[in-house]
Amino acid sequence: MREHAPVHYNSEEDYWEVFRFEDVNKVLSDHKNFSSDLKYLNLPNEDNVILPFFKQSLIQMDPPQHKTFRNLVNQPFWPKSVAELTPRIQKITYELLNGVAGKEQMDVIDDFAYPLPVTVIAELLGVPHEDRDLFKHWADVQVATGVGVIGQRIDDPETLRARQQVQDEMSRYFKTILEARRKEPQSDLITHLLASEIQGERLSEEQLLGFCSLLLIAGHITTTNLIANAFLCLAEYPEALTSLRNRPELIPSFVEEVLRYRSPVQRITRFTATDTKIGGQTIRAGQRVLAWIGSANRDELNFPNANQFDLERNPNPHLAFGHGIHICLGAPLARLEGKVAFDVLLQRLSDMNCLDDTVFEPIESSVIYGVKQLPIR
Ligand code: HEM
Repeated sequence: MREHAPVHYNSEEDYWEVFRFEDVNKVLSDHKNFSSDLKYLNLPNEDNVILPFFKQSLIQMDPPQHKTFRNLVNQPFWPKSVAELTPRIQKITYELLNGVAGKEQMDVIDDFAYPLPVTVIAELLGVPHEDRDLFKHWADVQVATGVGVIGQRIDDPETLRARQQVQDEMSRYFKTILEARRKEPQSDLITHLLASEIQGERLSEEQLLGFCSLLLIAGHITTTNLIANAFLCLAEYPEALTSLRNRPELIPSFVEEVLRYRSPVQRITRFTATDTKIGGQTIRAGQRVLAWIGSANRDELNFPNANQFDLERNPNPHLAFGHGIHICLGAPLARLEGKVAFDVLLQRLSDMNCLDDTVFEPIESSVIYGVKQLPIR
């Protein structure tokens, strides 16, 4: 598609798709023409095209509202702030690996790549990480019912019901926690959000719920897949594992290359606010545009030998965390988790071979890229 139809109108689904790095970068950076606000679709009913929580969240906002809301949570996610979490992330990593010590086989996802980031984000937010099975259920349902597939109408009543049920459960759960923090403030993100003000006003219950759900869900499913996808890269390129063992200083560049080569978020959605030209095509106002990050990250014009995993790729200006005003809030945290995880894994696991007969089953999603299970011995 990058070569023959880089900006393509999908007439069946009525949306545009953008595949080249340059164009994807433009869609992500040009927030005036490519808006994050669903209102430009002029739909009579938005409930079946977006997860209700996300209507009140950062990812759906344009300036100036977006900046005001993002400023409330920027500081805890700055690289300097998340660096302080290093010892805690190391401790969780060791505990998880101790839990599988002596076993002949582990599942990378269930035993490690899921519990690590979910524990970290749960502790940051201030929700009990012991509830992580519940969070996993919510995340799984959201992924299966199209988290991030904003603007695509879902007609199947069963899917809508499953979504609504998760939304109700999350609402009830967070309302209880919010109530507890109102009575007894703690040093966590939920307490911080409760005390936050915009133009002298506290956040509404819906806005608080929007923040909590976005941070909890965005804060772990993506990083789970970063870690699992890193294993897939090592299985595909065993020589990279040998190089990493000999030169652990390459771990940060390894993490960046995994993000490029197997991007956990494959695409994001925008809505045209005006008639807009891109890649020689004019897209009318009020259209849905899918920017394919996964494709941009394999564009030969920007990444020589793009289909080759290159541990030492430099520069590596991938778009895995997006670009522009919505660039991933949690990128410093995800990078740190990836680095700490592989620092420890390389010391602790003598081998990271995937089972020979493993058939990897992909996650059923056009947004999140990864596999459901990943057994290794
Ligand atoms: C936004 C990817 C980890 C929180 C984004 C976006 C991408 C992305 C592509 C841009 C969405 C857009 O432009 O509409 C990833 C990947 C991750 C990761 C690949 C892991 C490897 C995290 C973590 C958090 C997080 C750990 C922790 C809270 C967010 C939030 C936004 C966001 C709140 C919305 C920012 C805004 O709209 O201003 N992420 N993410 N992400 N991410 Fe991440």
